[in-house]
Amino acid sequence: MTLPQRPFGQSGQILPRLGLGCMGMSDFYGPADRGLSIATIHAAQEAGVAMLDTGDFYGMGDNEMLLRAALEGGRRERAFIAVKFGAQRDPSGNWCGYDARPSAVKTALSYTLKRLGTDHIDLYMPARLDPAVPIEDTIGAIGEMVQAGYVRHIGVSELGAASLRRAAATHPIAALQIEYSLMSRGIEAEILSTCRALGIAVTAYGVLSRGLIGGSVPSGARDFRQHSPRFSPENLAANRALVAALAAIGAESGHSAAQLAIAWVLSRGDDIFPLIGARRPDRLAEAVAALNVVLSPESLARIAAAMPASAVQGARYPAHGMASLDSERAGE
Ligand SMILES: NC(=O)c1ccc[n+]([C@@H]2O[C@H](COP(=O)([O-])OP(=O)(O)OC[C@H]3O[C@@H](n4cnc5c(N)ncnc54)[C@H](OP(=O)(O)O)[C@@H]3O)[C@@H](O)[C@H]2O)c1
Repeated sequence: MTLPQRPFGQSGQILPRLGLGCMGMSDFYGPADRGLSIATIHAAQEAGVAMLDTGDFYGMGDNEMLLRAALEGGRRERAFIAVKFGAQRDPSGNWCGYDARPSAVKTALSYTLKRLGTDHIDLYMPARLDPAVPIEDTIGAIGEMVQAGYVRHIGVSELGAASLRRAAATHPIAALQIEYSLMSRGIEAEILSTCRALGIAVTAYGVLSRGLIGGSVPSGARDFRQHSPRFSPENLAANRALVAALAAIGAESGHSAAQLAIAWVLSRGDDIFPLIGARRPDRLAEAVAALNVVLSPESLARIAAAMPASAVQGARYPAHGMASLDSERAGE
């Protein structure tokens, strides 16, 4: 199957417009079924998806090992593997800072290559800006790994405009990974135009607002959504009303709210590659079908009016998570 493909920033790589986010298969969204997760990765590949997004801290290596198992038998060659690193967690899964020093970059990459059973990573990214390390040092170290052949392209995650410019001045940056959806439009103020000026693609996550737009419910204390302000009891009803308004528009043309949300992000520009966190083949198929949803200017206006970002209740992360986002710092 052929999906629409577009240049991935100025990396020289052409990629299908949709990527699969694998995080929820190991962490953050409650229990996941390993067999279904692997079936979802296979279904994505059969549908023509290349980008598989993971992080070394998703299940503390578990997500990379899951990907390795799913990609046995010649599937690795069809995959464009994107890995985030640098987030520090204790054995209980609690966050304990970031480490993006050059030595940490190289050590983390070594473990990742072993866990994935591969000789290179297609896109390697610090998960957050490490406030103790100049971004030039982190990007410079990944650049050495590009030179050595262990990394193909460098990405960044949740950086603000000023840090993006510093990173790109150090080494070509292929993509910025950042939350972007009908509910989270912060990048439109300055970050998106900075990416475009620098030739950096955007890999958008949270396109379904962590399942809020798909009707997911938190499944226990270890579920990120249990602590997400958007899912909190005081905010959930208002946010669900916005989803219902979106679903009503979708029903007119036989599409789900999730499909409209994906199609809306796709409509924002050819340089934006949504990463969908599907954990089941049927959800993946629904997301892939969104690539065929054609939205007229009138439909786009109705969708944006049904779910204005200003009406969304609650920040996209709890306070400690918001504090770690360079992208949320004003005045850059
Ligand atoms: N750079 C960063 O800081 C960062 C942060 C978060 C995520 N990410 C990456 O981005 C990827 C995507 O993010 P995400 O998983 O948070 O975003 P998402 O796609 O907004 O949400 C995923 C959730 O939506 C539900 N869902 C999936 N497909 C659906 C469909 N077709 N219809 C309805 N609901 C559907 C699922 O809920 P259920 O599981 O409840 O069924 C799933 O867990 C992650 O896997 C990860 O690789 C990066």
